[in-house]
Amino acid sequence: MSDTPISPDGLWSVDWRDEDQVFTAIEPTDAEIAGAASELAGYYSDAHNRRMMAHEEEAFTAEAVLAYYRELREEGGRPFLLLQGSSGAASLVGDGDLRNIEDGTAEVAILIGARNVQGRGLGTRYAIMLHVFAFEVLGLERLYISVIPANAASRRLFEKLGYEIDDSPEARDLIDDETDVTMSVSRARFESTVAASLPRIRIAKRDGAPVS
Ligand SMILES: CC(C)(COP(=O)(O)OP(=O)(O)OC[C@H]1O[C@@H](n2cnc3c(N)ncnc32)[C@H](O)[C@@H]1OP(=O)(O)O)[C@@H](O)C(=O)NCCC(=O)NCCS
Repeated sequence: MSDTPISPDGLWSVDWRDEDQVFTAIEPTDAEIAGAASELAGYYSDAHNRRMMAHEEEAFTAEAVLAYYRELREEGGRPFLLLQGSSGAASLVGDGDLRNIEDGTAEVAILIGARNVQGRGLGTRYAIMLHVFAFEVLGLERLYISVIPANAASRRLFEKLGYEIDDSPEARDLIDDETDVTMSVSRARFESTVAASLPRIRIAKRDGAPVS
């Protein structure tokens, strides 16, 4: 990875080509968020997903998704839509974001929406892609997660990226509940842990995509 500073302004996309498959994470335009909102509302409303993300309140509507994205961006967060397939026929498999971006660090969240495609490696793949963006484009040095103890899939996914338990005040600042598990990874540890995957990942500015 390059150490040259890159301006993180504008909207970016990250892709990973694997034989005949293309996996893409895009920073969406407002129109793309609007187009994805109903499907995302369905994913966020799934009972298992809600439990794992500790969103026990009522089901999400498309309007609530739009408000959530708006708020995330107003706070400086960088949300991504996760797409699988080539551009004309790409399907939405989930979303992810970097939030609480400050002092060279951020918190990561990711969702693979449909239950029948969870557990097939997609979460690991897209999480690696978002980390490459965070470290290479945003120039961050450490990323954090906070998850409920029952979220074994998420804990395992992030361990595979080099994450370790982190009970520092910076990490515990991100919890919603005292029982939440906090983990973090440094840029160097991430890059050495997933080194074999990095050459396949490309990051680009989305030329022409309007910035909201
Ligand atoms: C958590 C989540 C992102 C993981 O993505 P995924 O595509 O399902 O996971 P992957 O297939 O990449 O698997 C990652 C690892 O977890 C393991 N895993 C998957 N599901 C698991 C489960 N239910 N219990 C224990 N381990 C599990 C996998 O076996 C894999 O480890 P391995 O390579 O050593 O076998 C996805 O399941 C999801 O979106 N869940 C609901 C929302 C959520 O919990 N988001 C995380 C909040 S940060």
